[in-house]
Amino acid sequence: MIQIEHLSKTYDGASKHHALIDVDLTIEDGDIFGIIGESGAGKSTLVRCINLLERPTSGRIVIDGEDVTGYSGKQLLELRSSIGMIFQNFSLFQQRTVLKNVTFPLELVHEKREHREKRAYELLELVGLTEKAKSYPSQLSGGQQQRVAIARALANNPRVMLCDEATSALDTRTTISILKLLKDINEELGVTMVVITHSLAVAEKICNKIAVIDKGRIVETGETAAVFSNPQSAVTRELLGSDYLPGDFDGSAGTSASGTDARGRSASTILADAIDAASNPFVNAGRPEVHASTSEGKPAGRRVK
Ligand SMILES: Nc1ncnc2c1ncn2[C@@H]1O[C@H](COP(=O)(O)OP(=O)(O)O)[C@@H](O)[C@H]1O
Ligand SMILES: [Mg+2]
Repeated sequence: MIQIEHLSKTYDGASKHHALIDVDLTIEDGDIFGIIGESGAGKSTLVRCINLLERPTSGRIVIDGEDVTGYSGKQLLELRSSIGMIFQNFSLFQQRTVLKNVTFPLELVHEKREHREKRAYELLELVGLTEKAKSYPSQLSGGQQQRVAIARALANNPRVMLCDEATSALDTRTTISILKLLKDINEELGVTMVVITHSLAVAEKICNKIAVIDKGRIVETGETAAVFSNPQSAVTRELLGSDYLPGDFDGSAGTSASGTDARGRSASTILADAIDAASNPFVNAGRPEVHASTSEGKPAGRRVK
């Protein structure tokens, strides 16, 4: 369990910026916990505080009952290796092969070469990229690169994965395949997920709980279905409004500048519909990549063990 207690973060600069103000959140083991908010709301700052990439100005991060806020040195390294992280821009090492990207975290902890490579091949199989082991990131599609990043994030068997706008650079179909993979990893490996997203459709589909953040403050939190059906804060209602164009939607389904398509559906509705279609076994056996254009390459391999 991750408890975030009275967390504040102020960036010093020409003028002080209060990026997080008195944030309280509890993320239970096994949750897929969504953090939703507009650009600049403080989402990245919040997740970066969880693994102490960002040092809180005040407040505490408590993991499994232990206050980790003051960790440094070896304790900090151990904490970070127990928390995987993926990003919008994948953050792969361009000079390393796919295999060497995935073995990297194991090199840091001085795992033997045979063990590293065996583990990396297991993970590449998990994400459906075994045949790309010797390729370089630039030879892969965006979705494939994010799969490599997910494999790398899992190398140390983390119990928690932080996903910062992980699908924001991907088209709708690829977004769906990555969400399915994250959900499989959550359900079958029991990895707790913290999912930052602009997309209400993404949050609605995979998160069991969500928190809405606005100008550094949590304005609403609860079970996803309850928040969506009965939003309590004006900010949430505004986000749910039809004008809202999710940041991870690339417009490929034909939205206009107003955020609606020719049928008047908002971007989040289009994505939700696409996710529903992809979940329909009659349409594509639950694996959207199977029918995707060649850009996504091979379908994912077997399900997570
Ligand atoms: N290193 C930094 N120095 C100063 N201000 C920052 C820094 N990082 C983020 N901020 C500011 O803090 C606010 C929250 O940023 P961020 O957490 O990245 O928001 P989000 O991820 O929700 O878009 C923004 O106004 C941003 O400009
Ligand atoms: Mg961000």
